[in-house]
Amino acid sequence: GLKKKEVNVLCLGLDNSGKTTIINQLKPSNTQTQDIVPTIGFNIEKFKSSSLSFTVFDMSGQSRYRNLWEHYYKESHAIIFVIDSGDKLRMVVAKEELDTLLNHQDICSRRLPVLFFANKSDLREAMSLVKVSQLLCLENIKDKPWHICASNAVKGEGLLEGVDWLQDHIK
Ligand code: GTP
Ligand code: MG
Repeated sequence: GLKKKEVNVLCLGLDNSGKTTIINQLKPSNTQTQDIVPTIGFNIEKFKSSSLSFTVFDMSGQSRYRNLWEHYYKESHAIIFVIDSGDKLRMVVAKEELDTLLNHQDICSRRLPVLFFANKSDLREAMSLVKVSQLLCLENIKDKPWHICASNAVKGEGLLEGVDWLQDHIK
């Protein structure tokens, strides 16, 4: 059969936002893990959509590891940026990291797609997708295709909508 096109995706966001839980849900069920622990450094994971074969760099969001992120910008074809919708206190930190990312020399000149997951939408205190978009000033991103999905990574809700969008926007 036809070989799927191989693409590299970088999964970013603060620690505890749910990056590894999201990537784990997207993997084939026989390779999913039950116990997810905070990521040290990063992990490389693979999953497929109908037309693409994804290699995901699942980065640690802990502050001490965030300096690793930029080393993978050049080789990435898209970014997944995960936000904990319930973490109001750290939304400004998430915005700072997003702004730093978008202003980086290896990112700012490229039209690479950015998919946002407003994750943990199941939490009682979760902010709406609209609220998260406003706090991150997403409407200011004019030079890249971007999309935001509400998600519940524990149940796997909202994830495939995001992957479908990515598949349609990766060149
Ligand atoms: P680092 O690797 O430290 O950067 O964190 P991470 O972004 O990979 O977060 P991880 O996937 O390890 O999830 C952190 C915690 O949030 C875990 O206890 C998850 O079970 C939980 N979690 C992830 N997604 C959701 C969600 O959608 N809803 C709820 N309620 N909890 C979630
Ligand atoms: Mg992780």
